[in-house]
Amino acid sequence: MPGCQSDSSAIRPIRFFNGTCQMLDQRLLPAEEVWLDYSDYQGVAEAIRSMVVRGAPAIGVAAAIGAWFGARDITAEASEEFFAQFEKVCAVLAATRPTAVNLFWALDRMKSFARANLDRTVLELKIGLEYEALAITQEDEQLCIKLGRQGAGLIPDGARVLTHCNAGALATGGYGTALGVIRAAVASGKQVSVIADETRPFLQGARLTAWELQKDNIPVTLICDNMAGYLMAKGEIDCVIVGADRIAANGDVANKIGTYTVAILAKEHNLPFYVAAPISTIDLSLADGTQIPIEERDPREITHLKGIQLAPEGIAVRNPAFDVTPQRLVTAIVTERGVARGDYLKRLAELARD
Ligand code: MRU
Repeated sequence: MPGCQSDSSAIRPIRFFNGTCQMLDQRLLPAEEVWLDYSDYQGVAEAIRSMVVRGAPAIGVAAAIGAWFGARDITAEASEEFFAQFEKVCAVLAATRPTAVNLFWALDRMKSFARANLDRTVLELKIGLEYEALAITQEDEQLCIKLGRQGAGLIPDGARVLTHCNAGALATGGYGTALGVIRAAVASGKQVSVIADETRPFLQGARLTAWELQKDNIPVTLICDNMAGYLMAKGEIDCVIVGADRIAANGDVANKIGTYTVAILAKEHNLPFYVAAPISTIDLSLADGTQIPIEERDPREITHLKGIQLAPEGIAVRNPAFDVTPQRLVTAIVTERGVARGDYLKRLAELARD
């Protein structure tokens, strides 16, 4: 099957126009492509919580749009009072998912804009916040394209690349991080094929990565999570690339549950393990990965599949949605500003400062 030669993808999870937004319901993919309408911040908060929209950068974009919806509906006439209410809107959006730092990054950017412009009228603040939300949305796709180009050289021609979860166009403003690197490698003329872990329990690999790569004509083969070691041992995987939800100052990486296991397998088989993430995913306030909050989700995601019960009633369940891969297992971290290797503490701080 021919690779996609265009350095773009038409897939986007969020459309923002005329004071409203639509989100592609990622819970229903690939069976149905349904766009849901949102025009208030409570609705957007629920979309993030229930994973209509998911993936760290896309959560940040959605939160910025939700914050603007909330700002628009505030009736206060004085800027100080407006800001007090705006902070409450942002607090509701911030309480949706704890691990992806892009959520907090986007809300902080919206609040910083408002705080810095408190000498303006409430109407001017509302207009400014709309522009800020629009900028966050558009910038995200552009920086993914830059990130992809930064990382494309890491992927050899002919590579069979394993990825976990979905760090693609669906998880960002467009184009993707880990899948953005793959798209950029393909666009540069390389033959690349992808092995997609299904990613239990929410099946982002089987449902989303498989769907979007197939749509863009990039060869993709789906496996269950527990097959990666077998394929590595047989020499059928050349490298691994994943996204991230939060990267601590020392380079420890929180990403979808199962990423840590893949990183250990990669180490055992001497395969490079790459992480692709925008600067907004780096949290320099946390010294290491032990401080990253890990979301625990509803046990039903494990005990049930599309409403069908798979496990005995009342069974004890753990459902951590993310794990932390220690930096010693990470070969390189690709950002839109460059590639970090080795001394992550120093290099990530430099990249974040640039
Ligand atoms: O629970 P999800 O689907 O939001 O988790 C998504 C991931 O773990 C992605 O790998 C990460 O957010 C990077 S997306 C570019």
